[in-house]
Amino acid sequence: MLNPQASLSILHEPFKRSDILTAAHHMQFSERTNWNTQETDLARAHRERVRDGLQLADLTVSNPTRCGFAYLADLLDALCNPGGLDYDPNPRGMLSAREGVCAYYADHGAGVSPEQVVLTTSTSEAYSYLFRLLCDPGSEILVPQPGYPLFDFLAGLDDVRLRTAPLVYDHGWQIDPEGFRRAITPATRAIVLVHPNNPTGHFTRKWEARELAALCREYNLSLIVDEVFLDYAFDPGEQPQTFAQGLEDVPVFVVSGLSKICGLPQMKAAWIIATGPERGAALDRLEVIADTFLSMNAPVQAALPAWLAGRGGIQGQILNRVQSNLAELDRQLAADPLVRRLEVEGGWYAVLRIAALQPDETTVRELLERGVWVHPGYFFGMPAAGWLVISLLTPEADFATGVTTLLNYLGTNQVCNI
Ligand SMILES: Cc1ncc(COP(=O)(O)O)c(C=O)c1O
Repeated sequence: MLNPQASLSILHEPFKRSDILTAAHHMQFSERTNWNTQETDLARAHRERVRDGLQLADLTVSNPTRCGFAYLADLLDALCNPGGLDYDPNPRGMLSAREGVCAYYADHGAGVSPEQVVLTTSTSEAYSYLFRLLCDPGSEILVPQPGYPLFDFLAGLDDVRLRTAPLVYDHGWQIDPEGFRRAITPATRAIVLVHPNNPTGHFTRKWEARELAALCREYNLSLIVDEVFLDYAFDPGEQPQTFAQGLEDVPVFVVSGLSKICGLPQMKAAWIIATGPERGAALDRLEVIADTFLSMNAPVQAALPAWLAGRGGIQGQILNRVQSNLAELDRQLAADPLVRRLEVEGGWYAVLRIAALQPDETTVRELLERGVWVHPGYFFGMPAAGWLVISLLTPEADFATGVTTLLNYLGTNQVCNI
């Protein structure tokens, strides 16, 4: 029999200094950060091409500060507001900044009061606040597919599960209400809507809003509406409706921010608008979440009303760019029966249907070798073959060259393979 003293000492043998010096340290990471962070072959090929200074028409750009737009020369003057020297933290954000946000909605015909506004540093942070407000670990959120790929990470970091709900294409994109209903489970807490959606570029219609509101009422869900591209409708006669006005008997949280509305992603300012039943309770809780981080900085908040009020200049340039690139795309596509552009109503992207002859990853890789960089559709939740997404924000000359290269490649490739 073992001497009880001896067995205890085996179980509880204290660390010796020599162990500490020789044993490799194993950090215990969380499951939620167990990502594969290895660079993909495609990402490496792209990085090397850029590093080597080889010609590349980038049809993936989404950063408006690197697209040759002329920002107001005195834009940064707004940061010199003496109010920025005072630290008087308000978890919901400075009143003057929230009033600036309300003025933006007033321009869109929606009455929003500053009490309904919570400022955040980005729309992504706004999503995170809302996920923490509405979800427990394991709760589910419905997101439309195709859609914006960052949701996976945002949800994962907040221990929320994403379920996808289908958008269907039939002379334009639309929701499939029955598909949304089937995706709802007892764990579902909210439906996310992107209006207009990225990358499909379609605005939510009134009938779709009604269907989604009915689902929210039936299953006690909130609606989160991302309106970052709201002001980028291609039809100048179209005045897109904001959801900030609310929907009858449904909690609606609108998220938006400066990164797209003012073309200022580097300024890190965005917001949540809370509407509907129990919005007071929701706002009280959001205030505690925001108070925990107090992530907004004072100078940017002080500058926010002036930047928002002056959004017309940059929006006009961006709209001209995306419209002119869309026209150029259509001009080149007119001579090419093999590639089809899907209907798009707004936003910064276009979706192309190509023949599904090989995985889109291969197509993207071969296009990169020819000097044009595009997103495969699967990046946005589309099938693995037959879909490409291109940015309409690329400077015009690069865009035209990129599309020519793309269509030449697809023409040659498809003819060879048929
Ligand atoms: C639909 C959508 N929502 C939100 C964001 C992120 O915006 P922010 O920079 O405010 O986090 C993006 C960025 O591309 C987007 O496409």
